[in-house]
Amino acid sequence: MGDFLLWRWLFLVTLCGVVHLAYAAVNASLAPLSIPPSLYWDGDDGWWSTFQIQVGTPGQTVRLLPGTSASAGSTIWVVISEGCVDVNPTLANCANERGYLFQSNLSTTWSTQGIQNGIDGAIFSLNTYEESFLGLSGNASYGYDTINLGVPGAGLPSLQKQVIAGLWTDGFFLGSLGLSPVPLNFTNLNEPQPSMLSTLYNQSLIPSRSWAYSAGAHYNDPPVFGSLTLGGYDATRFKSNNLSFAFGADFSRDLLVSLQSVTYDTAGSSPLLASSIDVFIDSLVTEIWLPDSVCEAFAQQFNLTWNEQGQLYLVAEEVHTVLVKQNPNFTFNIGQAGGGGETVGIVLPYAAFDLNLTAPIVGNDTRYFPLKQAQSSTQYTLGRAFLQEAYVIADYERHNFSVSQALFPSTSVSANLVAIYPPGNDNNGTNTTTTTTTTTKKGGLEAGAIAGIAIASVATLALVAIAALLWSKRTKKHHDLADTGVPRPEGQEPTHTVVDLTPDPARPELDGNKTNVHEMTEQHLVPPELPAYEGPWGRHELVQENSVHEMDGGEVTPATAGPEERRDKRVVQLGGLMIQNNK
Ligand SMILES: *[C@@H]1O[C@H](CO)[C@@H](O)[C@H](O)[C@H]1NC(C)=O
Ligand SMILES: *[C@@H]1O[C@H](CO)[C@@H](O)[C@H](O)[C@H]1NC(C)=O
Ligand SMILES: *[C@@H]1O[C@H](CO)[C@@H](O)[C@H](O)[C@H]1NC(C)=O
Ligand SMILES: *[C@@H]1O[C@H](CO)[C@@H](O)[C@H](O)[C@H]1NC(C)=O
Ligand SMILES: *[C@@H]1O[C@H](CO)[C@@H](O)[C@H](O)[C@H]1NC(C)=O
Ligand SMILES: *[C@@H]1O[C@H](CO)[C@@H](O)[C@H](O)[C@H]1NC(C)=O
Ligand SMILES: *[C@@H]1O[C@H](CO)[C@@H](O)[C@H](O)[C@H]1NC(C)=O
Ligand SMILES: *[C@@H]1O[C@H](CO)[C@@H](O)[C@H](O)[C@H]1NC(C)=O
Ligand SMILES: *[C@@H]1O[C@H](CO)[C@@H](O)[C@H](O)[C@H]1NC(C)=O
Ligand SMILES: *[C@@H]1O[C@H](CO)[C@@H](O)[C@H](O)[C@H]1NC(C)=O
Ligand SMILES: *[C@@H]1O[C@H](CO)[C@@H](O)[C@H](O)[C@H]1NC(C)=O
Ligand SMILES: *[C@@H]1O[C@H](CO)[C@@H](O)[C@H](O)[C@H]1NC(C)=O
Repeated sequence: MGDFLLWRWLFLVTLCGVVHLAYAAVNASLAPLSIPPSLYWDGDDGWWSTFQIQVGTPGQTVRLLPGTSASAGSTIWVVISEGCVDVNPTLANCANERGYLFQSNLSTTWSTQGIQNGIDGAIFSLNTYEESFLGLSGNASYGYDTINLGVPGAGLPSLQKQVIAGLWTDGFFLGSLGLSPVPLNFTNLNEPQPSMLSTLYNQSLIPSRSWAYSAGAHYNDPPVFGSLTLGGYDATRFKSNNLSFAFGADFSRDLLVSLQSVTYDTAGSSPLLASSIDVFIDSLVTEIWLPDSVCEAFAQQFNLTWNEQGQLYLVAEEVHTVLVKQNPNFTFNIGQAGGGGETVGIVLPYAAFDLNLTAPIVGNDTRYFPLKQAQSSTQYTLGRAFLQEAYVIADYERHNFSVSQALFPSTSVSANLVAIYPPGNDNNGTNTTTTTTTTTKKGGLEAGAIAGIAIASVATLALVAIAALLWSKRTKKHHDLADTGVPRPEGQEPTHTVVDLTPDPARPELDGNKTNVHEMTEQHLVPPELPAYEGPWGRHELVQENSVHEMDGGEVTPATAGPEERRDKRVVQLGGLMIQNNK
């Protein structure tokens, strides 16, 4: 009788142990996701490192820029056919220039169910709350579709029913991979629509709602592509400092910092910005927006030419030559918004500001300095140009973020991914490791290690149980067993997980013709395979050989209506975000 109870008890303990271990194994395997860069430099206002995802079924591969903006980043933006056919009819290789087009009518999983607001489907203004202060806005055709966070074969997760915004105007030339954890609210839906980041977290595909991003540096020798990690960060890509900043009080201005000074290193120079201002970091914006007086200091000191019509600073060829020779380094001293406290200096070389405008913005390539005159404090912004040299880690579990100097390790150094876990979790990821990783594929080892831990722990538990049984048989004090013999569940949980999920350097090449991609990686500045796109051996995973795009006849109301007119008629506001009202 007593023995029967004891065996039953032992069985239960072992079962609980196994169940617990299954959980522990799942948690331990919750590694950050590293999204590999596309190996392309895209954009019409610089060289920006994009990331490839597949949208729809079958997957259409598009190249997007990460969108750090908490409002605008709650959805994924893709460029649709109208973005070339109607808006840029004369732009050569338009589809490729815009990171490739998404055609919802070729996807079997596309749906606008519940959000239609007219026979054209679901056209809403983009929720560019912060960006609209800079005159950046757009309208998009919304729907739901399946996405996969990488190229075919990369083994990255797929998510169903993600909100996709199909945009066509040039205000945002490339699509955006929104990183916000904030859900999107449609006026005609009660349920907020979860963002990609929160969906990944909800489905236990990443350890926390956090991301880390640096835009990459085309000017580095060799050029270094952007780095994007979800649920953690890549410790090889930044110089760590001990500062973390609390998010701004307004959720849409989370990455708000105090810019305390901007200096450059020419002997005897006075600071370009001397009194601190609060500035919002936003990767959806290209330039750095600073007060007039600061821009003037820059312009005067470095002979920049103000172009009234374009509202931007041009750099004459001779001035460029001087600047290259002088090679000034600009230091942006960043602290907690509101001022005070310690600061970290982020250094940007002149090369980070040496950008070109290209078609369709200008006919001929034109050098410009990505500095914009802000008229009010809501416009102060550190855009993507800044993120070339800065690595930002945003932790939505703790509501804080950090800004660090980006590092550009050689490609032989593989990522050292460190998970960020939610607070209260034993694995809270506050530790970083200095492990130097090799190019060994760690995936198998990790799985093996987890299995090993699980097996070892089950064995330990069994031994403990047997020992307990023997002991209890002698003492007959069953109750004491639980206190003495059974290890605490927490004891078996790893306190820290570092997983190297670096894709094999050859990985992104798998999806297409290898010849193309090798050319690409060797000549980083000028994508040499452009002409191949229309030819017989380009990458064909996106569209079929047919590249003639006609206006989408099926949905048009009056055949005579221009596409802009047709679309603009039905634009409605996204709930809570009245873009036009902000102007
Ligand atoms: C492991 O995951 C389970 C389910 O997601 C969760 O309830 C538990 O708290 C996690 N444990 C740890 C230590 O993360
Ligand atoms: C959507 O509404 C929820 C509350 O229902 C709010 O927390 C969230 O910030 C809203 N999202 C946006 C993008 O405004
Ligand atoms: C995941 O999402 C579902 C549906 O929105 C929700 O009911 C559930 O609580 C979420 N789970 C977690 C762990 O956030
Ligand atoms: C951060 O590090 C700096 C030097 O790197 C040190 O002076 C400072 O005291 C540290 N701050 C904290 C809060 O540890
Ligand atoms: C700017 O122009 C002035 C004269 O116009 C010249 O003396 C100076 O060296 C120039 N500076 C740079 C950085 O080109
Ligand atoms: C700017 O920094 C680079 C790299 O650290 C250095 O080579 C260069 O000399 C610096 N420029 C000046 C003007 O000090
Ligand atoms: C721009 O290109 C055109 C030819 O397309 C050329 O005639 C013109 O000189 C160029 N302008 C400049 C400023 O380089
Ligand atoms: C940028 O444009 C200038 C002409 O203004 C050109 O000389 C230069 O080669 C361009 N840079 C790149 C990297 O294409
Ligand atoms: C994270 O873990 C460290 C050490 O285990 C602990 O000191 C710290 O309080 C934890 N932080 C949070 C936010 O849980
Ligand atoms: C990592 O965390 C463990 C406990 O959670 C602590 O003992 C250890 O000192 C930490 N290591 C570092 C480098 O902070
Ligand atoms: C899909 O839409 C594009 C443009 O919107 C159009 O050119 C194409 O013919 C359509 N394809 C099909 C199969 O309907
Ligand atoms: C979006 O649609 C509205 C309403 O039709 C229009 O006023 C606005 O100009 C459009 N915005 C863009 C960027 O096309």
